[in-house]
Amino acid sequence: MIPPKPPARDSRPSLWRFVRGFRRDILSAQSPRLYRAWMAEFRAPFIHSFTCNDPHLIDLVLRRRPMDFPKSPRMAAGLTPLLGRSSFISNGERWLHQRRIIDPAFEGGRLRDSFAAMLAASDATVARLVPLADGRDIDIEPLTSHAAADVIFRTLFSIPIEEEAAAGVFAAFRDHQQAQPMVNAGGLLGLPRWLHLHSRRTRQTARRIRGLIGQLVATRAARIAAGDAPQDLATKIMTTPDPQTGACFNHAEMIDEVATFFLAGHETSASALAWALFLLAENPDWQDRIAAEGTARDFAGMRGLAAARAVFREALRLYPPVAMTVRQCAHAETLRNRRAPKGAQVVISPFHLHRHERLWDNPDSFDPDRWDTENGKTCQREAFIPFSAGPRACPGAGFAMVEGPLLLAAIISAFRIKPGAARPVPVLRMTLRGRDGIRLRLTPRL
Ligand code: HEM
Repeated sequence: MIPPKPPARDSRPSLWRFVRGFRRDILSAQSPRLYRAWMAEFRAPFIHSFTCNDPHLIDLVLRRRPMDFPKSPRMAAGLTPLLGRSSFISNGERWLHQRRIIDPAFEGGRLRDSFAAMLAASDATVARLVPLADGRDIDIEPLTSHAAADVIFRTLFSIPIEEEAAAGVFAAFRDHQQAQPMVNAGGLLGLPRWLHLHSRRTRQTARRIRGLIGQLVATRAARIAAGDAPQDLATKIMTTPDPQTGACFNHAEMIDEVATFFLAGHETSASALAWALFLLAENPDWQDRIAAEGTARDFAGMRGLAAARAVFREALRLYPPVAMTVRQCAHAETLRNRRAPKGAQVVISPFHLHRHERLWDNPDSFDPDRWDTENGKTCQREAFIPFSAGPRACPGAGFAMVEGPLLLAAIISAFRIKPGAARPVPVLRMTLRGRDGIRLRLTPRL
């Protein structure tokens, strides 16, 4: 069965149709022609955007000249109440400084240190699912959010999600999402900055989250000073100086980054895991292949989870959690022979790129074997950018590629999964989600 896509809209260009569609869902507001086109220009009052599907153009924007295509300040405007001036939205010197401190904490060798915390979160997830695994129809999304939030708190601060401050951030974050369900809409629409009005509730929930994170950061700073801090991600990041300037993050900067790790690191992983479980529910043969490999109890054991890794990758291809992102032309540019003025928005849509009919064989089919290139298969790795690409690519990509397959293997080893009553419809909220959740039925495997 072909995995579901967003409903196709009328492809004739019209500002009214675009804005109306946008209010419902950014993704289904896009033209279905984007599954074949190399680039699409859209022009209307306030909006001049170029959606790029040409891998050479994407390479130019993300890898070769990223400084000429910074993150759009319009996109940042939607996120500032929560993220302050964090690496996710900053540009230029500030961003370089932030990445010089963050990146070492996520390097390959250091990922090994996070494994025990991820394993504990994976065990806790399976235990949380046991009472629900009686064949009833459940929405898996809140459960994968819970699991991914648990991973973040255990790896960052060595605390489980049940701990008071962690539970407080998680609860406040859910309120924040309801208050601000489509953070990126303003940026993707290209609305001017002054139109990004935040509701009082958005500002309040953001303040509450940042207050709770501030307490965690202050407590950790005291423990570092006393010499009894655990060697987790928070300690690594707080004690790593920028190798060029020698400066460490101050209190406010650390709050910005922790809020970012929480947003960028748990929403995304939760979305990917939920879609991967849905794809498995419709493909029981792959459940059996994953179950046959078993789970990993140590970092070296991750090598044995080839099927879980292939399924997770295929889920990231079909349902990329960050389904769209926006850059801005710092100068006038020529993009595929079209003139793009300074300030024009450059939209990159992994959702369309990953299903592009001229780049992929059977683009809409679920085929994890396409990643098995050792068996002579081919796949378009340059057209696969779930973590973006170039210097601004996700620093948590390696982390996510351990966490996702680990959780997937643990869940599938414990349960059989069947589709729920309704097939999910993908919509882009903060990340790619099911419009009415993602409904599944679980039963014990043994
Ligand atoms: C499946 C899981 C994940 C996916 C699909 C994902 C995807 C992405 C993408 C596409 C971007 C670039 C966004 C843009 O250009 O607009 C990004 C940025 C980022 N991600 Fe992830 N991410 C994941 C997990 C994580 C994790 C686990 C962490 C940290 C714990 C993390 C931290 C970040 C940060 C800090 C940035 C901003 C980087 C910058 O702009 O320099 N992500 N992520």
